[in-house]
Amino acid sequence: MLITWILGKDIVGYVRGHKWLIFGTLFFTSISSLFAVIPAYLLKPFVDLGMLAKEGTITWEIPWISLKQGTLLGFEISKRVILQGVDQRTLLTFLTLIAFGSVLLRSLCSYLGSLLGAAFSTKVVNKVRIDLFERFLNLHIGFFHGMKTGELVGRANSDLSVMQGKISEILTGIIEHPITAAVFILYLLYMNYKLTLLMVIFVPAFAGVLKLFGKKVKKHAEKVQENTAELSQRYHEAITCIKIIQGFSQEEKELNRFREEAVELYKRIMKWYRWHLGLGPLMDSLSFLSIPVTLILGRVVFGHTLGEIISIVFAFSKVYGPVKKLALINNNIKTLQGSMKRIFEILHTPSEIMETKQPVYLQSFNNRIEFKDVWFGYDKDNFVLKGISFKVMAGEMMAIVGSTGAGKSTLLDLIPRFYDVSKGAILLDGEDIRDIPLKDLRKKIAIVTQDTILFNDTIANNIRYGAKEKTMEDVIEVARLALAHEFIMEQPQGYETIIGDRGVKLSGGQRQRIAIARALITRPSILLLDEAASALDAESDRMIQETIEQLKGKLTIIVVAHRISSILNADIIAVLEHGEIVEIGTLKDLLKKNGRFSYLYSLQFNQH
Ligand SMILES: Nc1ncnc2c1ncn2[C@@H]1O[C@H](COP(=O)(O)OP(=O)(O)OP(=O)(O)O)[C@@H](O)[C@H]1O
Ligand SMILES: [Mg+2]
Repeated sequence: MLITWILGKDIVGYVRGHKWLIFGTLFFTSISSLFAVIPAYLLKPFVDLGMLAKEGTITWEIPWISLKQGTLLGFEISKRVILQGVDQRTLLTFLTLIAFGSVLLRSLCSYLGSLLGAAFSTKVVNKVRIDLFERFLNLHIGFFHGMKTGELVGRANSDLSVMQGKISEILTGIIEHPITAAVFILYLLYMNYKLTLLMVIFVPAFAGVLKLFGKKVKKHAEKVQENTAELSQRYHEAITCIKIIQGFSQEEKELNRFREEAVELYKRIMKWYRWHLGLGPLMDSLSFLSIPVTLILGRVVFGHTLGEIISIVFAFSKVYGPVKKLALINNNIKTLQGSMKRIFEILHTPSEIMETKQPVYLQSFNNRIEFKDVWFGYDKDNFVLKGISFKVMAGEMMAIVGSTGAGKSTLLDLIPRFYDVSKGAILLDGEDIRDIPLKDLRKKIAIVTQDTILFNDTIANNIRYGAKEKTMEDVIEVARLALAHEFIMEQPQGYETIIGDRGVKLSGGQRQRIAIARALITRPSILLLDEAASALDAESDRMIQETIEQLKGKLTIIVVAHRISSILNADIIAVLEHGEIVEIGTLKDLLKKNGRFSYLYSLQFNQH
């Protein structure tokens, strides 16, 4: 409950399983706080009896609360004698030992409390870390277009480490400091309630300062986190675009921009520090005021002994300590809330690609893919695809051609539901793809994207990506099918060659053939092939054509064609312009029509 109140209700689910850790943290921390008052109490006999009392035998007694005889709830405050008839040295040694023992116990409890607190916060944060990664993996593709990758990674990292550090600090502090303060206040009330109540006048001043600082710290902490995320975005961008930066000799410009932003971050951090660190010293000065007041009033008005006054001043100083730390905790809570807000914002973003409540299980795909008046736009008012309708029968090959930006890649993206159609429907064997469980749907489809995306791993593992259980024989089989086997064998370690970040160690054509092999290994029923628009060398080009020819008839293929032979082989060709199908039919039909297709055909493919 306390946790929910401090950290917000988002965290409830994460805290539930760790009740014992929280309980242990609170338990040890409270015990450690209770022990804090013992040295203060011992100061009085230490000075008054151990140092100032006349030589001779000394008696030390402490107040004792006992049940009144014969009543149920009546208490009686009496005195109990601890030491009697000892000399000063014995008393001092005895008191020192007790003080030392209590400090030792206090430290031990405080250590255990902090350790459990750290275990708790690390467990919670780790769960959040995993959930965040899971969320990233499952969010709809559109989410990532609205965000910068580096910024997302930065958020995840810096906000999580803030959470990691602050949660345990807050959890132990929120118990330790109030209890310590309360224990000392009780002690002070016991020593002299009038003087203690007089000191209450300082409270509003403290509260006001606390509130102001808390607000400022939260504001600046948020800005610092924002800036940090921006900078990590710059890092990410520089590393991924390094070739372009160096190629265009923009190192200087990039560095300057980075420097400006880093300086900005520095300024913001300093602003944050100004408020964060300023609080402590300010409270110190305020609390220092209380010392002369206590000394004068204590001695002149109330006539306390020296030992009592020292003990009171000590206790007062011990009240302010925790109050000051409590104020810092207030700052920490605000910092933490900023980080948590950002993290939970992502965690609570629903994927726009939703699973249906009444799924239809499609055993195997064996009839047709149908687009029924499909409309789609990346944003609401701007349709990229407008009223697309066509059918491809199972086992057929369809080629889509059209100028750049016509919407060809977008059309392919709709089939595995990277995006959902805005209007109309896509049917697989007559079933709306939105009614098929996402996993089932994607299992039937293999994708070769326009820009080949490979992992920095071995060639074999890249090919096996969609089906880890496949054997090396399977890998070689699909590599042969994709005409990749020969060049793979020429690599230094064959299939075990590591291909570098995003496959930088391979040529464009080689990368695409590996991508085709990877697509084939899951034995898909449908292959969506977005041919790289960039010109490959004649050899690679021919190889990929052969690959497609080999595959034709074995599965249903929709290819976004940039090559003449893909079109020549196709059973059906669609010409897409500005999001609309302007012509559709067999190669013969379209050429006969002498329309858009034959124009594109003569324009693009005549040189072949
Ligand atoms: N993530 C996106 N967010 C917003 N608009 C997009 C996004 N991706 C593509 N577009 C827009 O959608 C339109 C169609 O893009 P698409 O990538 O489908 O074209 P294409 O036909 O594949 O072109 P190319 O032949 O160059 O690959 C373009 O106008 C493009 O600007
Ligand atoms: Mg494209």
